[in-house]
Amino acid sequence: MSGTFDVPLEKKSYRPDPSYRDQSWLGSYDEAYKRFLDDPEKFWADIAGELDWYRPWDAVREWELPYARWFTNAKLNITANCLDRHAASERRNKVALIWRGEDEEVERVLTYRQLHRKVMRFANALRDLGVRKGDTVCLYMPLVPEHIIALLACARIGAVHSIVYGGFGAAALNARIRDAGAKIVITADVGYRRGKRVALKTIVDEAVVNAPTVEKIVVLRRTSPSLELFSEMEVDFEEIMEAADPYCEPEVMDAEDPLFILYTSGTTGPPKGIVHTCAGYMVGTYYTTKYIFDMKDNDVHWCTADPGWITGHSYIVYGPLAAGATVLITEVVPDYPDPGIFWRIVEDFGVTIFYTAPTAIRMFMRFGEEWPQKCNLDSLRLIGSVGEPLNPEAFEWYYHTIGGARCPVLDTWWQTETGMHMITTTVGEKMKPGFAGRPIPGVVADVVDSEGASVAPGTGGLLVIKEPWPSMMRAVHNNDERYRKYWSTIDSYYTAGDLAVKDEDGYIMVLGRSDDIIIVAGHNLGTAEVESALVSHEAVAESAVIGKPDVMKGQAIKAFVILREGFKPSEKLKSELTYHVRMSIGPIAMPSEIDFVDSLPKTRSGKIMRRVLKAKELGIDPGDISTLEE
Ligand code: WTA
Repeated sequence: MSGTFDVPLEKKSYRPDPSYRDQSWLGSYDEAYKRFLDDPEKFWADIAGELDWYRPWDAVREWELPYARWFTNAKLNITANCLDRHAASERRNKVALIWRGEDEEVERVLTYRQLHRKVMRFANALRDLGVRKGDTVCLYMPLVPEHIIALLACARIGAVHSIVYGGFGAAALNARIRDAGAKIVITADVGYRRGKRVALKTIVDEAVVNAPTVEKIVVLRRTSPSLELFSEMEVDFEEIMEAADPYCEPEVMDAEDPLFILYTSGTTGPPKGIVHTCAGYMVGTYYTTKYIFDMKDNDVHWCTADPGWITGHSYIVYGPLAAGATVLITEVVPDYPDPGIFWRIVEDFGVTIFYTAPTAIRMFMRFGEEWPQKCNLDSLRLIGSVGEPLNPEAFEWYYHTIGGARCPVLDTWWQTETGMHMITTTVGEKMKPGFAGRPIPGVVADVVDSEGASVAPGTGGLLVIKEPWPSMMRAVHNNDERYRKYWSTIDSYYTAGDLAVKDEDGYIMVLGRSDDIIIVAGHNLGTAEVESALVSHEAVAESAVIGKPDVMKGQAIKAFVILREGFKPSEKLKSELTYHVRMSIGPIAMPSEIDFVDSLPKTRSGKIMRRVLKAKELGIDPGDISTLEE
C-alpha cells in the first residue's frame, strides 16, 4: 500500500470512574455512535431541535460533493441562541462571562442579561456606522469582554467577522484586511502582556495603509489619559455604544449565510480564509460543547485559547454561550507574575472544565508540580487539550498533576476547517495516552492509504473524514480551487493533511501534519508566510524554513537564508532578521535558528524541497528525491 508506514503502538490505558459516563449527557459512546449510524439525519435534527429557529429546515443535509448545505432554508440568528434564549429564561442572572485582568484586583462579571444588553447596543452602534448584513468587520483586539461583545454584535446584524489574533504584526493584519475586504476594523489602544502594554492601535494604523475598503476604525480606549483619536475615520468604542439604541432585533439569517471568515496558514501562497456558515456551525459547536465537554449548568468553563483562533471562536464564544455556560476569559499569561497564576485562577473561580494546548502543558511541566500543588484544584471535573498531539508523557503529567488522576482527559482533534471537535475520547470512556480517541458520534473518520483504502491497525496513513458534518467549512474565501482540493486529494473524502494510525479498538493517534505547516506553540504557521517575511528584508535573496521538534514549543522554526550580493553573514544580521520576522508576522513566527547557505534544494520546477532540508537537519531519510534538481 502506498503512502503508509508502520507505527509501534503503546498499550497503556486509564478508565475514569463509571459515574462520569453515567451522569454524562452523551452516555455510552457505543450506543451514541450506533444511534448516529442508524439515522444520521435524525441524529443531527434532534440536536438542532434543542435550539431556537425562526423557520425550520426543509432538509437536514444536501450533499453535492464537495459542497454541502445543512438545515436548508432554515432561518436563525446564532446570537438569539447564545443570548436571548438565556436572557429570557431562568438563566437571565446566571454569569455568562468572567474576565480576569493581569492585575489580581481586576475582575469583571457579566450575566447573560447584561451581556445581551451590551451586545444589542454595540450591534446598533455598528449599524449606525453603516455596517449591514454581509459586510466584513475585522477584529484585532486583546482578550477583554469587549472582544466578545464586538464579535457577537457582528453576528447579531449579520456582518461577517474576521478576527485576527493580536499577536500578528502589521503586514499579516494588512493581508487579512485586504483579502476579506473589511469595512470596519475594531481594535483597542493596548493589550496587556506580562505587565507591559502592547500598542495594538499603532499596528492597525500601519495595517490600514493600502487597505482601501476600511471606512472606520473603532478603538476601545483602556489607558488614561485616553489615546487621542485623529482622522474622521476613528471612533471611540464606548462613545458609539452609549449613543446607540438599547434594543436590537437580531437579523434573520439563512442557514447558509456566512457567519465568519478565519484565516489559517497554508503551505504555499497566502493564508486561507476559512468560511463558516450560520446554522451548521451553530449546531456543531453547541453539540460538542454540551455532549463532548458534557457542559452542565454549574460548570465554569475555561478555554485558554484566544478568540483569534478557531478554538476561541468555537469553545470560548459560540459553543459555550449557546449551551448557556459560564465562561472564564483572561488576559493573563501562564508565567506572569509567576507560574502559579493559572492554578490560582482555577481555585479562585472554581473552574470545572479546563481546556488548553499541549505546548502549554509542556510549559507547566517545566515550571514544576510545586506550582499546581500550592492550589486546590478539586473543582476540576474535565481537562482537555487541542492543537497538537498530546504526547504520552504530557498526558501522564496532565492526568495526574492537574486532573488528580480523577478527571477525564479530552485530547480533542479538530481543525479551523472542521469548526468542531472531530476525534476524542468521550467522557467516561477508556483513555489511551498518545491517542486522541475515536471519531465522535456524528463524525465518520478513518486512516487510509494514498488510494483511499482503510489501513490495518498499526499502519500509519492519512487521516480522512468520509462524510460531511454540519460545521464543516463551506468555502475558502476567494479560492474555490483550494477548497475543492480538500475533498479531491483522496477521491470524495475530506483530507485533513494529518498523518495518523489506528489501534485494534479504533482509537486514532495523530502523528502530525503531512505537509509543510509548522505548528509553533500550538499556532499554525505556513512556511511560505515566514519565508516571505524573510525575503522582504533587503539582505535576503531566498529562504526556506522548516519546523524542528522542540520540547517546549512542539516545533521551532529553523531558517535557511541565501544572502544577496554585498551582504555578509554575521550574528548581528541574524538578530536583525529575527526582529524583522517578528515585526512583520509576530513573535510566534520568530526563527530560533538561522543558517546562511549558498543554495537550497529545489525541484526541477523550482519549488524548494523543505523535507530534504529537514531530513538533513534531523539526520533522517529524505524519502523520494527523484524530483530534486541537484
Ligand atoms: C493539529 C485547531 C494532534 C492537527 C483546533 C490539525 C492536533 C491542526 C490536535 C489544526 C490533536 C489539532 N492531536 N494534532 N488533538 N488538534 N491538531 O486549524 O495537525 O489551528 O490539522 O485548529 O492542529 O490546527 P487549527
